[in-house]
Amino acid sequence: MKKSNGVTSKSAIKTAPKNSAKAPAAKKKKVLFAASEAVPFVKTGGLADVCGALPKILRKLGYDVRLVLPRYWAISREYYGLEPVLRTMGVPTGNGVVWCQVFEGKVDGFPVYFVEHEQFFGRAGIYDDGNWEHPDNAERYGFFSCACLQLCRDLKFKPDIIHCHDWQTALIPAYLKVWYGNDPFFKDTASVFSIHNIAYQGTFKATAYPFLGLGSENFVESKFENFGGVNFVKGGIFYADAISTVSPTYAQEILSEPGANGLSAYLNRRRDDLFGILNGADYDHWDPETDVNLPAKYSARDLSGKKLCKKALQQEFLLDEQENVPVIGIVSRLAEQKGFQHLAVVMHRILRDMKVQFAIVGSGEKSLEDFFGGLPALYPGRVGAWIGYSNRKAHLVEAGADFFLMPSLYEPCGLNQIYSLKYGTLPIVRATGGLRDTVRQYDEQTGSGNGFLYHDQTPDAICGTVGWAVSTYYDRQSHLAQMRKRAMLEHFSWLDAAKQYEEVYRRALARRASWR
Ligand code: ADP
Ligand code: GLC
Repeated sequence: MKKSNGVTSKSAIKTAPKNSAKAPAAKKKKVLFAASEAVPFVKTGGLADVCGALPKILRKLGYDVRLVLPRYWAISREYYGLEPVLRTMGVPTGNGVVWCQVFEGKVDGFPVYFVEHEQFFGRAGIYDDGNWEHPDNAERYGFFSCACLQLCRDLKFKPDIIHCHDWQTALIPAYLKVWYGNDPFFKDTASVFSIHNIAYQGTFKATAYPFLGLGSENFVESKFENFGGVNFVKGGIFYADAISTVSPTYAQEILSEPGANGLSAYLNRRRDDLFGILNGADYDHWDPETDVNLPAKYSARDLSGKKLCKKALQQEFLLDEQENVPVIGIVSRLAEQKGFQHLAVVMHRILRDMKVQFAIVGSGEKSLEDFFGGLPALYPGRVGAWIGYSNRKAHLVEAGADFFLMPSLYEPCGLNQIYSLKYGTLPIVRATGGLRDTVRQYDEQTGSGNGFLYHDQTPDAICGTVGWAVSTYYDRQSHLAQMRKRAMLEHFSWLDAAKQYEEVYRRALARRASWR
């Protein structure tokens, strides 16, 4: 079944042409993706998956897309064959010119620029050092945002659209208007600001503001000022020509509190320019028929390889090798957003009352790492946990588990449930944000649906729904088999999403033109 993604703005739906890919006006437009992470170079979460996949598809639609990232210490120049394209680049900031270098690499045939600055990015950790956020994150990403614009000028790459992602590049829309509003080079450049998670707003003390060089007239409540400090996302919302977020439901949720984390009033002022576009999945990397990380491949037609993956998963996670006991998989950042503190409350009850196994891959908050990391010792053969980050293990869990659990308190889109569906690993999720837009409730009477949803943000709701999935595994096997096949045939297309972004780009360009 083909899943069509959604754009929330009614007017956008009205004006979206049937086949936007063929609209000549959209062809050969230049787009700069400005992001803090993208696969395969650097990843802490789904933002990297999106910024690695969407440019590829936009290129297929005829756009000249380029991506710019910081050259973090962990991105090896040698490994990726990065070549210098600007040996010196002077970047204006509120604190004078900061000098850096720019390198270029290629991924899937498109150029990726890397801004290299030893002091800002030549250190371990992307946003933090493992314990604490880097204290100069405002300066690091303020500088990076200025550098994204400067490299366009120095490379004579005049973008029609600069597509910014999350707080790290949320200042770019402001620079485009405040610094370059009347600059001939950027006179036609529009900005699109994608919000992947509004809980992370880039909030800093007011002392960080002068470095940004945006002037006291922008340090006001409607723009960057927030409870006496500076808030990057707030300014991005004010200045972007169009704003998007990563699922239709989340686009609704951030128009009110608590979903908007305090920014609902500002988003409501821009609601006509706000679009909710569901992320796709990059099936080049996440498809059990071709996945190089798996010990055996499989498809909806032939699931025998999934059994082998389950066996391999049980071996790797030191679980009892029992083919007929359900395995529940978890791959996640262990952050408050993901709801594992609620799961922790009922974990012992689940393990006492149900014949079930868990395979867990995750890292994040220390207390959750300690709790989940300690379970294998308490339940040997029944819980396997790997605390850390491992792409290969993440793929193995997707393939080898029977169910995939995401008890998120909120979830802007969520990619793991989308991957799980493709791997025939039925999601058990809370009905929020993108989880609600991608998982369809199991109906015990008819066997329809592709997963298990609950609504209440409580430990009991998690426990009850896990119990429902486990009883379905044992008692309604034919339903489970049907659901699994149905799930594997779902298709969350980046092409559909990219076509909706085309419409957002058109809207942003029109707004930019009228602003001028
Ligand atoms: P978020 O971006 O909020 O963390 P998503 O579901 O959008 O959530 O994306 C998470 C991505 O990060 C997925 O590709 C997932 O497989 C990956 N991931 C999360 N934690 C880990 C981990 N510990 N090891 C490997 N991959 C992980
Ligand atoms: C954020 C969100 C997640 C989303 C991802 C990619 O990290 O938490 O729900 O899937 O961005 O858009």
